[in-house]
Amino acid sequence: MADSLLTIKHLKVSIKSRDGLVNEVTRDVSLEIGEHEFVSLVGPSGCGKTTLLRAASGLRTPTSGNLLFEGKPITDVPPGISIVFQEYNKSLFPWLTIGKNVAMGARDYLPEERGRRVEIALKQVGLSGFATRYPWELSGGMQQRAALARAMVSNPRILMMDEPFASVDALTRNHLEDVVQELWINSNFSALMVTHDVGEAVYLSDRVFVLSSRPSTILAEIKIDLPRPRSQLETRKMLRFVELQAEVLERVEEAGRQSVGIADRD
Ligand SMILES: Nc1ncnc2c1ncn2[C@@H]1O[C@H](COP(=O)(O)OP(=O)(O)O)[C@@H](O)[C@H]1O
Ligand SMILES: [Mg+2]
Repeated sequence: MADSLLTIKHLKVSIKSRDGLVNEVTRDVSLEIGEHEFVSLVGPSGCGKTTLLRAASGLRTPTSGNLLFEGKPITDVPPGISIVFQEYNKSLFPWLTIGKNVAMGARDYLPEERGRRVEIALKQVGLSGFATRYPWELSGGMQQRAALARAMVSNPRILMMDEPFASVDALTRNHLEDVVQELWINSNFSALMVTHDVGEAVYLSDRVFVLSSRPSTILAEIKIDLPRPRSQLETRKMLRFVELQAEVLERVEEAGRQSVGIADRD
């Protein structure tokens, strides 16, 4: 890929546990993300998706392998990468208003520009008028929208999301998927999303990577050739959607069966 935005090459992450044992979480993961691509990572629970995302964003130093963002090695989280974590209730500061929480993502801008950006970001996620509220005054879905606004306010090149909608109900989840889809269509960032929801991965992505059980490697890469914009009602009933979902699910189950095998051997 000529215009790779993020390059992950032979990434390996081993974590030393408190009892001193070295736990190999990610064995060998290589992938490239291009400009304005939507890429998802799916895989069995505990296979190392969060660990991989933390390493790819610069939050965790990998044991070995190469990480390049816009051609430069990643040593810390670069300004062009924003992250949305799974637990919105832990990721927003409860003592700050929604507006101030979102402004945390725009600390590098002058105050006036910061205010303008916060306003735009809140509007993009449908939270105009909620700037003076506190996180605990908002529903879970709205809190996650605020976390999304905080990630978007700095105009990132890559938005990384770790199971961003796992803690909300199914209907809210569908709405949030469409908020993300619309943001992605209307802006020029690439997305790297971790999810355990196969339908969600297929619905939003251009490519889906299936990770093996721990220590993880890439088991499959599936190209999602569904037309855009996608719609919850129309896209999800397309034969091609159903086929792709089945294909991804089959590979995830394959990975899951491997992990059962590993547990049996332990
Ligand atoms: N901070 C840590 N200390 C020790 N082990 C960890 C730590 N973080 C992750 N692990 C190990 O890595 C495995 C994968 O974790 P994680 O990346 O959260 O998986 P996933 O997000 O796919 O569910 C865990 O089962 C655990 O054994
Ligand atoms: Mg995780």
